[in-house]
Amino acid sequence: MTDNSEQLIRFSAEFQEMVESYFQIESRYQAAIREMQTRLEVLNLEFESKHRRNPIHHMEARIKTLQSIVEKLHRKHMDISISSAVENLYDIAGLRVVCSYIQDVFRVSDLLRRQEDLQIIRVHDYIHTPKTNGYRSLHLVIGVPVYLSEGRTRLPVEVQIRTIAMDFWASLEHNLRYKADGIVPPDIAEELGQTAADIAAIDERMQQIHDRMDQLNLKTPRQLSLLDSQ
Ligand code: GTP
Ligand code: MG
Repeated sequence: MTDNSEQLIRFSAEFQEMVESYFQIESRYQAAIREMQTRLEVLNLEFESKHRRNPIHHMEARIKTLQSIVEKLHRKHMDISISSAVENLYDIAGLRVVCSYIQDVFRVSDLLRRQEDLQIIRVHDYIHTPKTNGYRSLHLVIGVPVYLSEGRTRLPVEVQIRTIAMDFWASLEHNLRYKADGIVPPDIAEELGQTAADIAAIDERMQQIHDRMDQLNLKTPRQLSLLDSQ
C-alpha cells in the first residue's frame, strides 16, 4: 500500500470515530438544552399567571453541527477532536431567549442566576457594553446539571437573551455579513451601527410605554374604554 492510501485509511477511520463521538455528545447537549428550556418555560408561565403577560416572546435552540465545531476548533488553533470540543467550546449547546422588553432580559437573567444548581460560567453583557458594530445581547454560559444513567454531569449551554428588536437587528446583520463573507465596507458598517443605536432607542421608548401602561394598571378593556371617554 502507498503512503497516501495508508494516510487516507487512517484519516477516514479517525473521521468515522469523530462522527460517532459527535452523535454521543449531541444527545447529552440536547438534554441540557431541554433542561434549560423547561426552567425558562416554568418562569414564563409563573410570570404570566402573576402579571398576565409573558416576558419571553419565544426561544430558539440549536446544537452546533460537527462542521461548525471543526471550523471553530481550527480557527482557534485547537486540537480537532470531540474531546477537545467538549473541553474548550462553551457554545455546542445554544439557546436564544427573545424577550418583549429590555427589563425582561435582565429579569430572566436574574431569575436564572438565582437558581442555585445552575453554575454561571461566563457573562457577556453586550447590552450595557455593546460590541463596536452595535450588536446588543446578554450572553450567559450556564453549567446545567443533567442526570444520565451513570449519574449527574454538568454541561455548558450558551444562553443569549435579547429583545425582539435586538434579535431583528442581529439576524439581519448576520445575514448581511454572511453574504459578504464577513467583509463589510466601513461606511456600511457605520450605518449598520447607527441602525443598532436607533433600535436601542426604540427599545427604550417601548419600555417606557409599557411602564406607563403598567402604572395605569388597566385591568380590563372596559376600564380602558371608560378612561378613553373621560
Ligand atoms: P464565537 O467564537 O463567535 O462563539 O464568540 P465568543 O466565544 O467570543 O462569544 P460571544 O459571546 O462574543 O458571541 C457568541 C455568539 O453571539 C456568536 O456565535 C453569535 O451567535 C452571537 N454574536 C456575537 N457577536 C455578534 C455580532 O456582531 N452579530 C451577530 N449577528 N451575532 C453576534
Ligand atoms: Mg458561537
